[in-house]
Formats: sequence, C-alpha cells, structure tokens
Amino acid sequence: MAEQRPPPQHTLPIPQPRSLGLYIHMPWCVRKCPYCDFNSHQAREPIPEETYIEALIADFEQDLQHVHNRSVDSIFIGGGTPSLFSPESIERLLNAVGERVSVASNAEITLEANPGAVERGKFEGFRNIGITRLSIGVQSFEDDQLQALGRIHTSADAVRAIETAQMAGFDHLNLDLMFGLPGQSLQSAEDDLLTAIGLEPAHISYYQLTIEPNTLYYRRPPTLPRDEAVWAIQRCGQAHLAQHGYGQYEISAYARPGRQCRHNLNYWRFGDYLGIGAGAHGKITDADGQHILRLWKVKHPREYMKTAGSDAVIGGKQSVPPNDRAMEFLMNQLRLKEGFKVPLFTARTGLPLTCMEPALSGCLEDGLLERHDDVIRCTEFGWRFLDEILGRFLPTESLKAG
Ligand SMILES: C[S@@+](CC[C@H](N)C(=O)[O-])C[C@H]1O[C@@H](n2cnc3c(N)ncnc32)[C@H](O)[C@@H]1O
Ligand code: SF4
Repeated sequence: MAEQRPPPQHTLPIPQPRSLGLYIHMPWCVRKCPYCDFNSHQAREPIPEETYIEALIADFEQDLQHVHNRSVDSIFIGGGTPSLFSPESIERLLNAVGERVSVASNAEITLEANPGAVERGKFEGFRNIGITRLSIGVQSFEDDQLQALGRIHTSADAVRAIETAQMAGFDHLNLDLMFGLPGQSLQSAEDDLLTAIGLEPAHISYYQLTIEPNTLYYRRPPTLPRDEAVWAIQRCGQAHLAQHGYGQYEISAYARPGRQCRHNLNYWRFGDYLGIGAGAHGKITDADGQHILRLWKVKHPREYMKTAGSDAVIGGKQSVPPNDRAMEFLMNQLRLKEGFKVPLFTARTGLPLTCMEPALSGCLEDGLLERHDDVIRCTEFGWRFLDEILGRFLPTESLKAG
C-alpha cells in the first residue's frame, strides 16, 4: 500500500480565479459507440427535451452560489450528442443562464454535433441563437471504418455536415478525428487527416483511440495497429498538421493561430468551472474558505431529472486536500505545450514550488521537463513520457511541504 504523504506545513492564500467556465452535459445519443466511455445513453424513446432543459435550469440555479460575482467566459455543451436537441431548447437554456449570471459579451459557446444527428437547417438555428463554435465528431472519413466504429453516419454525411456548418457561418469549427483505429494503415490515417485539413476547420482534435473500461471494445477488443505503427501515424499526422498551420497546443489539440478552445484551456490551466447536467463535474475555488471544491452530479439521466434543484442531485463532492493539489495541477498543465508559470502554480494550489522537490529537480536533470525563467514545461522528449513524469510526483518524499 502507498505510504501516506505528510501534509504540507504551509499553504499560501489562494485567490479566486477570474475566469469561470460552464459545462453543460447532454447525455443521449442515437446509438452507443463501442469505444465510448462518456456518460451517454442510447435514446430508446423520444428525448424528454423540455424536462431535461428544466432540470438543467434548476441545477444551474442551485450552482449560482459558486459563481462568486464572476462572469461566465465560456460555455461548452457536450455529451452525448447535444445536436439532438432543438435550437429552441438550447436557446431557452442559454437565455435562462444569461438571466441569472453575466455571460461575457465575447464568450465562446461551443456545441458538440454528430454528423448523423443534424437535420437540415439545424446549424443555422444554432448559429442564430448564439452558438459561436461547433465541434463535429467525424472520427474517420472511411466508410468501412465508420461502420466498424458503430457510427451512424457516412463520410459523405460528415463532409456535408461540415460544409453546411460553414455555410451557416461557423468559422470556428472543430473536427474530432481518431487514429490508431482497428486495422488502420498509415496511408488510411494520412488520408483521413488530409481530408480533414482540406476542409479547413479552425481546430482539429486528433485523438488516439484508447480502449476504455465499460465499453464494448473492452469486453471484445478489436485488433489495433501495433504501438510502433500508431507512433508512426501520430508523427506523420503531427507533421501534416504543422505544415498546414495547425499548432499543437495540447496532447490532442491543434489549432490555427488564435483558434485554441478557450473552454478547454481553462480546464488545463486548472481554472474554475461549473458543471450542470447528468454526471457533470465542476471545480470551484472558494477563496473565503480557502479550499478547492470538486463536485459532480448524479449520473443517470432519469435520476438527474428527478433530483435536479435539490441536494439529492449532488453525486458527490470533495475538497481537494493540499497534498493532492500539486499533482492535479500538473496532470492538467503539463498536457499543454506552453507548460505553466510558477506564480500560477502557487496561485492555483496555495503551495510553494519547493513542495514538488526532489521530483521537480529530478525531471529537470533528466531532460523530461525544462525551465525558462518562471515557465516550466515538458521537453519534446518528456512530452512522450507524461505518465512517467507524473508518476514521479506521486511518492511520499516528492511532495513535502516547502
Ligand atoms: C464526447 S465525444 C462527443 C462527440 C459526439 N458525440 C460524436 O461522437 O460525434 C467527444 C470525442 O471524444 C473522442 N473519443 C470518444 N471516445 C474515445 C476513445 N475511446 N478514444 C479516443 N477518443 C475518443 C471522439 O473523437 C469524440 O468525438
Ligand atoms: S456519439 Fe459520441 S458521445 Fe455518443 S456514444 Fe458515440 S462517441 Fe460517445
């Protein structure tokens, strides 16, 4: 059993982060994909849109106590498949949010869409109600692959959805692509990525397929390309993305200049966010009580709709102990190419940098991390061994109080 870490002896004041994000979870899909571990459920009957939107509003109302006079800078409506909801329902929800908090006039408002769940005119509807960014789940442009992945759309459907979104005025478009797919060759992965790039989205999320517990793929694993083949696909993909002006700013995120996802950046910079909807997670800094609170809502949509607005909707809450803050901060920040500034580490965690010794010096000496003035980040070499780096910050001795 792991030894208990000694508690840090001194914690420093933690100011309230200025930014606040809002995540809204929509838990239904047309069909469950065999690789997907998200809290998403196959809709076997019509989605109870109205009841769910009412539940979200009641849930938000209850979370207002965590806003602490801040305005909301970004909203991310994720799932599941939020594009199954009508623009009218999403508008009602956004209006209800706007009536209760101040939403920044330049707020980024993202909605996730599945190319198989957007009828004609819907994108225009989403654009008209103030959605500023669409994230389209493409996964692959090869029909056989899409079928094997259990997707409900073809490659042509995906291209049509992207072009329709662009015609509706969405210039801030993200495409989700996966690589390392069952039986995938380097050539077919390259073709997928070049097709995506050719459609000129502002942002591409390029995920390596992972086999997650609680999925069909976990119970019946498909044959995946070998590690070296996946590594070759990734390197080749990174080269194409760089060549076409998509800068990598996180492990799986690539963007044209100035088009990074602000909502996700706030997560990775260990910022504050509210989470409403079935199974949604929030993270809030309570500057008065000097603690960092994580809270999450009950997972099942039925139970969520029954309990939203009451204490019973809380699936759990936990104050992040000072001992865990450094690790949680690093798990997020080191995903970013930019790394982090030392003063931000202290502001977000209330801990001095010395609490990470001797693990920090060890990583710097071994060329896994690098430091330039007050910025610490992974080296190109360390970037490939993020798990190993994080592992070094786990043992008791490495997280002593400064
Ligand atoms: C929450 S899903 C929402 C997108 C939308 N529901 C869809 O699938 O069209 C976000 C993205 O996560 C990625 N994803 C989901 N499961 C994954 C897995 N096991 N490995 C890698 N990426 C995964 C997919 O690219 C997916 O588009
Ligand atoms: S459509 Fe998206 S959220 Fe739904 S099961 Fe498939 S990957 Fe998961």
